[in-house]
Amino acid sequence: MISVVKRSPLFYIGDKYKLLKQLLPLFPQNINNFYEPFTGGGSVFLNILAKKYILNDLSKHLISIHQFLNDNANDGKKILDNVYKIAIRYNLSRSFREDVVPQNLKNEYKKTYYAQFNKKGYDKLRALVNENKENNPLILYLLVIYGFNRMLRFNGGGKFNLSVGNVDFNKNVEKALLNYFSFVKDKNIVFATIDFEDFIKSHKFTKDDFVYLDPPYLIAGAEYNKYWGEDSEKRLLNMLDLLNKKNVKFALSNITHYKKQKNNLLINWKKQYNSHIVGSHYFNYHNNGKKDIKEVLITNY
Ligand SMILES: C[S@@+](CC[C@H](N)C(=O)[O-])C[C@H]1O[C@@H](n2cnc3c(N)ncnc32)[C@H](O)[C@@H]1O
Repeated sequence: MISVVKRSPLFYIGDKYKLLKQLLPLFPQNINNFYEPFTGGGSVFLNILAKKYILNDLSKHLISIHQFLNDNANDGKKILDNVYKIAIRYNLSRSFREDVVPQNLKNEYKKTYYAQFNKKGYDKLRALVNENKENNPLILYLLVIYGFNRMLRFNGGGKFNLSVGNVDFNKNVEKALLNYFSFVKDKNIVFATIDFEDFIKSHKFTKDDFVYLDPPYLIAGAEYNKYWGEDSEKRLLNMLDLLNKKNVKFALSNITHYKKQKNNLLINWKKQYNSHIVGSHYFNYHNNGKKDIKEVLITNY
């Protein structure tokens, strides 16, 4: 098992980074092919040892960034040099190498000086992507890193539509990138970007294969949850029953309770499997239900 948990350089909303210390001991020890239908930022696969990684996410843009980082894993230094060059050209803060934010801006905007400093350059970069003048996943990655909440979000017309965040390309980002490169460079990893059900159905599973699933949650809102409804949830649970019949090991992350809501579909379904409570949010029906969230890992082994 991996002892130091690595964070994905995508800093993805809803990532499993903080839960990994609890999740990893619940995973099988010996994994042949590791399947992840909902890869997101990749915090989970980066902390798994397997012979092969078969990774999927419906977001084509997200997978294009993973693919780019994988293709360039042997040239990590060059990628960071390119980041540095782009940051200079667009006058973006770059504390991983130097602090260029003027002191007077820091004094004037004590808590938001990165956003103030980066806004102009960020808008120019975003325009390049949205006017199709730039199709480089590194530029898209930089829009995430310097963007609001580090999200990857497009509007209905396919335009990247987040604004600058109060964030920087700092040493933490550099470290996460270098960790990503050094992990993936000698691994056998393939990516797909299709619906989870088609992804699972298109593979033949063998002994010691393991499927980890971290889908959007039916009862909690995140950007990628907006197309996830009861139909998707039912498709997912049926598919897991099929995997179980084929003796394929799976582990599903989810929440059964969120504030005052309950996911009854999941609560009933999980009775046939093993359920482990994870997370640090103490769940109690009687404390007004405000911050209550009950996170589980459901396994068939
Ligand atoms: C909770 S996030 C996964 C987070 C990931 N475990 C991490 O640590 O970063 C769920 C992911 O499912 C993807 N997704 C949503 N609907 C999907 C579908 N029908 N098929 C495949 N992926 C989907 C979203 O794009 C999102 O990245």
